[in-house]
Amino acid sequence: MSVDVSSIRYVLAIESSCDETAAAVIDSDLEVRSSVVASQYELHRDFGGVVPEIASRAHVRRILPVIDQSLKQAGITLADVGAVAVATQPGLVGSLLVGLTAAKTLALTLDVPLIDVNHIEAHIYACRMAAGRDVFPAIGFVVSGGHSNLYDCTSPVDFELIGSTIDDAAGEAFDKVAQILGIGFPGGPAIQRVAEKGNPKAIRFPRTFLKEDRLEFSFSGLKTAVLYTAKGVPGSTKKPEPLTEQRIADIAASFQAAAVDVLVAKCEQALRQRNRNRLCVGGGVAANVRLRGQLERMAKRIGVELHVAPMSLCTDNAAMAAIAWEHLRRGRFAPLDLDVTPGLVRRKR
Ligand code: KG4
Ligand code: ZN
Repeated sequence: MSVDVSSIRYVLAIESSCDETAAAVIDSDLEVRSSVVASQYELHRDFGGVVPEIASRAHVRRILPVIDQSLKQAGITLADVGAVAVATQPGLVGSLLVGLTAAKTLALTLDVPLIDVNHIEAHIYACRMAAGRDVFPAIGFVVSGGHSNLYDCTSPVDFELIGSTIDDAAGEAFDKVAQILGIGFPGGPAIQRVAEKGNPKAIRFPRTFLKEDRLEFSFSGLKTAVLYTAKGVPGSTKKPEPLTEQRIADIAASFQAAAVDVLVAKCEQALRQRNRNRLCVGGGVAANVRLRGQLERMAKRIGVELHVAPMSLCTDNAAMAAIAWEHLRRGRFAPLDLDVTPGLVRRKR
């Protein structure tokens, strides 16, 4: 396909990697003309986590109405779409396949280029969109329900994975702790809300690898510590303190403080190790107010430029697939036999 990129005005972006069905229209000035997100949280709430089969089925039902709505809100029709972008990695295989199938079908029938988007890179690109200017090279940090990944990013599309979790992702820890405390799903916003009334110093929870010079996270020890504090240590005769509203708030606040301390410390270590002076943070957990505040303090203290994705672009959405413009302008088009890649690709591309 010969493509004149300068004649393209609108990219239609599709996102279905986990439990949000989303579509957006982004114009050639990186202006988000529409961004529609159909959240499935009520379908997964009772399970305390995302159920892959339920997620894929919901994507199938919602993808076309969501695309229709994104076009309508942008005030364009399919005939105006110059390229179709889709997140193909990482994510739940069944969920990713729904978005990819819709994107391929549209690209084929409209005879426009298909653009392969990496969901993780898109989370970081949200910082570039908000800044309105180039923010690379930078350390990129994606903190979401599926990842706690540090990257050395030499450009918006060249990422080297330099740190990740050896067990749970940060958001997963928030979700599981919220479940232990019985305060709701998704856990991140629930913990943040409840923690407002708690004392972050009430319980000294473990901060794994905090002082170690390695770019790895581990949240399972913290999660177990919360479990034992809330419900008691198995086999012990010592009864845990009653889970009053105040006790729950104190546990939530102390957990949040421990998790945030580690997240911020590892960003600082990454910046120092790679000698970078910019930090870009995205992903659902980046919506956390305590994390945002502590990141700001750290950045100020060590003199680095901080970019945190705006709230509207933190949790999953298709607008951040604006990164497709970077691929388009580099002539990186995807073939129509493009497949999904559910796992994380560790290699430098
Ligand atoms: O990026 P995202 O929407 O989906 C993934 O790609 O995983 O992130 C969802 C995660 C959930 O674990 C949710 O609990 C967490 O982001 N989250 C938060 C907050 N808002 C969402 N975690 C902490 N504080 C928040 N305010
Ligand atoms: Zn995400």
